[in-house]
Amino acid sequence: MTTEEKIHLIQACKGVRPVSQLTAYDYPTARLLDEAGVDMLLVGDSLGMMVLGFPDTTSVTLQHMVHHTAAVARAQTRALLVSDMPIHTYDTPEQALESARALIDAGAEAVKLEGGCTVEPMIHALVQAGIPVQAHIGLLPQHIKEDGGYRMRGKSDDEVAALTADLQAVTRAGAFSVVIECTRAEVAAQLTAASSIITIGIGSGHGTCDGEVQVFHDLVRYFPWFTPRFAVQHADVAGSITSAAKKWASGLLLPREK
Ligand code: KIV
Repeated sequence: MTTEEKIHLIQACKGVRPVSQLTAYDYPTARLLDEAGVDMLLVGDSLGMMVLGFPDTTSVTLQHMVHHTAAVARAQTRALLVSDMPIHTYDTPEQALESARALIDAGAEAVKLEGGCTVEPMIHALVQAGIPVQAHIGLLPQHIKEDGGYRMRGKSDDEVAALTADLQAVTRAGAFSVVIECTRAEVAAQLTAASSIITIGIGSGHGTCDGEVQVFHDLVRYFPWFTPRFAVQHADVAGSITSAAKKWASGLLLPREK
């Protein structure tokens, strides 16, 4: 299936069935999630915390994203492969184009970048160049330090107005979808009702957006040291790894004496 066909199918889900998106940072995870029927895979810059051991996403580089995008792309997924653009790789439209092309060359079919009104020119430049864009509004992990930490967005009328303006800006610029992160459930539902593009919620309530995205490591408890309150857990990979390693180590034998 071509990228255009995949995006068309995702857009056709609006009002019909929820769209699923999960993060994948490597080949086996991408294959497994694809075989499970997930609609979109996100090589998220959350890989900074989940696989590289950084405290947040701000240390993630374009080289990291290219490396992991290429691994996921080798799985040749039916799911649409979206890759995150790291902080300061899309400060101007020209820089955004150069960075996005590196991700597309590595196998991404679409890119995601954070921001609304402030990134409208960058999204416009990418879409004009034929690169599909998923926008990301609400809580922006790349700007968590200057934006006042991990708190729910859309609590005041001013914040709701700003979110509405952000949604309009990314839609005008041509994004095919928008992630709405950590926004009050009522506000996410209101934005979705007003949106012509696919909204994907995270930490913004259940059944409020056209679909949801979750960090895979949270879904299967593969990063047990921190889990966001809103995360849904359907497996305990950390527990399985620990018990498998203990069982294996305790069954080791010394060489027999001759
Ligand atoms: O990097 C990421 O995993 C993300 C999701 C939380 C949407 O941006």
